[in-house]
Amino acid sequence: MAVSASSPLDLAALARPHLSPVLGRYFERSWSHGEGHRLYDTAGRPYLDFACGIATTALGHHHPAVTRAIHAQADRLLHVCNALGYVEPVGRLAELLTDSLPVPLDTVFFSNSGAEAIEGALKLARRVTGRPGTIAFSGGFHGRTMGALAVTTSNLNYRAGYEPLLPGVYLAPFPNAYRDFGGDDEAATAGAMAGLRQLLAREIPPSEVAAVLIEPVQGEGGFYPAPPAFLRELRALCDEHGILLITDEVQSGYGRTGRMWGFEHARIVPDVVCVAKAIANGLPLSAVVTRRELQERWGPGAHGTTFGGNPLSCAAGVAVLETIRDQDLVANAAARGAELKDGLAALMAEDDRIGDVRGPGLMIGVELVSDRASREPDGATCDALLAACADAGLLVLSCGTWHQVVRFIPPLDVTADEIREAVAIFGAALRGLPRAGGTTGA
Ligand SMILES: Cc1ncc(COP(=O)(O)O)c(C=O)c1O
Repeated sequence: MAVSASSPLDLAALARPHLSPVLGRYFERSWSHGEGHRLYDTAGRPYLDFACGIATTALGHHHPAVTRAIHAQADRLLHVCNALGYVEPVGRLAELLTDSLPVPLDTVFFSNSGAEAIEGALKLARRVTGRPGTIAFSGGFHGRTMGALAVTTSNLNYRAGYEPLLPGVYLAPFPNAYRDFGGDDEAATAGAMAGLRQLLAREIPPSEVAAVLIEPVQGEGGFYPAPPAFLRELRALCDEHGILLITDEVQSGYGRTGRMWGFEHARIVPDVVCVAKAIANGLPLSAVVTRRELQERWGPGAHGTTFGGNPLSCAAGVAVLETIRDQDLVANAAARGAELKDGLAALMAEDDRIGDVRGPGLMIGVELVSDRASREPDGATCDALLAACADAGLLVLSCGTWHQVVRFIPPLDVTADEIREAVAIFGAALRGLPRAGGTTGA
């Protein structure tokens, strides 16, 4: 198909015959470019981007510092492979990244994607502890590769037809306060800890568990935060039994929750932290961070990569972390997040199709239900809402097993005006959606 640079393009028509349909898509729109917090389609129409390429373009599009860093590095060196020696942005990013983490997390292994970071963390845990077992939490999402998939249970379609997956994986109940414990964090903590202890008494002894893997805020599973008290009890249990605590900060990290790292809300320090998504504002990059001793025991050659930690992504990564630090964007995420949550809570007060508004910082989920008392998930309304928001110029995404949760993941440098704009569009879109009985929500 001929491509003209001047007319609005239907890129879907161009791409569909050759791109695999296996990739699930939120939208079928054709994108031209991005500027700041707006994405533009090929007809030149702007959209306020509160999807951020699934929590990845945390500084928005065409950010001057990131773009400058990428251009400068592209002019100098694209690839050499870290196995062949040292390149400046790689070392600088490792230093900045570990500076952003608590002591003793001081050593980084770079790879390309979130799933790869999870694979690396699981391999490290097995090799270093000499134990076979991994405990993950029901409803979690950690990626699509076979190892990461073995610890992923947010949606049946991700796993169906791929068994047998990695052996030695055990699932514990996640402390999902909204869905399973009537919104009570204390009950969720007690219930999930009881489930975990039962698992350790009945299915696998703690002495055979290498690692416990958890998202501090479940992401794809539905934006469910783990109560801080639960994370503290989990930390204590891991300490008691010599189990490594891995936090998957792929979505919840990098200032997203109004703290640099999701685990900070619980005042714990994990043994292993997995990082990806926002780390290079859209270039592929991920990291496994631990204390030095663990990666020394992992041992030279025990893991590797060709592209992981490439100079271009790392140069972007340095610009991202310097910008977050210099512009105090973690504080901005906390302040703007509170405004966003207030705005959405006001919508919830006027519309009982919203069952819950939750989440720290700029990681906010709005759960759609058929009625508030039953908490019956309403994926159809959520899907319609996403489409209506996009039609009105706001990009938001869904998550949750029944895609019943609208997730708001705006850029970390979002402004108060943009928050107001998003809430206004979202509210109008919801009011315009017919209720099950046939009338609109207004
Ligand atoms: C918490 C979490 N872990 C891991 C992943 C996998 O990351 P990737 O898609 O880069 O492999 C994701 C992706 O959404 C995620 O949200």
